[in-house]
Amino acid sequence: MKIGFANDHSALEMKRELIPYLQSRGYEIINFGTDTTQAVDYPDYGERLGNAVRDHEVDLGVAICGTGVGISLACNKVRGIRACCCSEPYSARYSRLHNDANIICFGARVIGVETAKMILDEFLNTSWQGAQEGGERHRRRVEKIMAIEHRNSSR
Ligand code: RB5
Repeated sequence: MKIGFANDHSALEMKRELIPYLQSRGYEIINFGTDTTQAVDYPDYGERLGNAVRDHEVDLGVAICGTGVGISLACNKVRGIRACCCSEPYSARYSRLHNDANIICFGARVIGVETAKMILDEFLNTSWQGAQEGGERHRRRVEKIMAIEHRNSSR
């Protein structure tokens, strides 16, 4: 599975620990930066990752800034993206199971690297229930989310 990473300067150190963690578990990583500690604008990196997920260049994405909030907002502006900002593994699991989230976000200034690893484990090891038997209600709800995006795309 191919995983895209994007971050701002505040999350560089955390990303440098998480990429080898996932590589050691067999994931292929595409890194969309930033890779310096020079201050950058998180929307630029969130958009890059969002585009890559939308275009199926990667299967799922990981976006990290100080809080996880700004970069998740940026990712969610790309059509087809369902980015979820989580600080614990339970929400990360259900963001896949019920919401078919395609990007997980968290804050490098909010959680520690071990919690981030647990979040990634849940996110990457969980499949969307909407694609499985009995998952009609989750499919209907995610379709409704995407219909909101569609209705607002020309405004
Ligand atoms: C950068 O200082 C900070 O604003 C950014 O990393 C993030 O927390 C924004 O939501």
